[in-house]
Amino acid sequence: MADGGGAVLELTGIARDFNGVRALDGVDLAVAPGRVSCVLGDNGAGKSTLIAIMSGLIRPSAGEYRVDGAPVRFRSPREARARGIATVYQDLAMVPLMPVWRNFFLGSEPRTGPFRALDVRRMRRVADAETRRLGVALPDVDAPAATLSGGQRQVVAIARAVYFGARVLILDEPTAALGVRQSGIVLRYVRAARDAGVAVVLVTHNPHHAHLVGDRFTVLARGRVELDAARAEVDAADLAHHMSGGAELDTLRHELGGAPPAAPGSEGAADAPGGGDAR
Ligand SMILES: Nc1ncnc2c1ncn2[C@@H]1O[C@H](COP(=O)(O)OP(=O)(O)O)[C@@H](O)[C@H]1O
Ligand SMILES: [Mg+2]
Repeated sequence: MADGGGAVLELTGIARDFNGVRALDGVDLAVAPGRVSCVLGDNGAGKSTLIAIMSGLIRPSAGEYRVDGAPVRFRSPREARARGIATVYQDLAMVPLMPVWRNFFLGSEPRTGPFRALDVRRMRRVADAETRRLGVALPDVDAPAATLSGGQRQVVAIARAVYFGARVLILDEPTAALGVRQSGIVLRYVRAARDAGVAVVLVTHNPHHAHLVGDRFTVLARGRVELDAARAEVDAADLAHHMSGGAELDTLRHELGGAPPAAPGSEGAADAPGGGDAR
């Protein structure tokens, strides 16, 4: 197991029950600065539950959660945020008719002058500089948020979190609703945040996206860690294999008639005996 050396956020033996149903069981995860730690898993694997624990929304039923080496028991997301743990959710909140710069500062607007007026100049300048800094140009910070693409919206949310001091950035399926091009925008930004020293937790059920940017991979299956591997140890096909049940799937394939395993990369196509072209 990872020794947690240099980890900013560390989970050990985490379990979580919902009315007697175990959503997570014995999960270990260590997240380090300047690294992208991917958490993968199929529907129901426990990804959202893990995010909820890390972001202070719920507490584990068992196990330990440490930040900077010291155990924490967050009672709210606010407490987690105060420790630099920010979560960007897929259905992130933006006010569509407000300009990008206003959305960037929503709820934390700087004010200026004797009448505490909104510091519009500063907000525009910072929003523009911060979104550019990590290398993705947005149309115009004066444009209403409604004109942003899905990928650009994620980018603004990530830039905002980093600007407001996120040391750990948890991304909840940031590419799930996006096409390849838009996903590319987000993944480039994920890498830029990592290069800026942020500890990124990329939660996804897309093994290809994960493998493009991930340094370490934790695959969950029905609440347990099915695989924990460094980048050099796995490829995207391995990740997909483990997400779909790994060894259990192999057993099932065997039981269902012992057809030869499909060609590497085309998982789940073992139901065509006689070698019909299994596409
Ligand atoms: N609030 C809840 N109440 C009851 N069961 C829950 C709750 N949240 C999650 N679960 C259960 O925990 C398991 C893991 O769910 P979840 O964390 O949402 O997985 P994922 O995000 O990987 O799809 C599922 O079996 C789900 O039904
Ligand atoms: Mg989920």
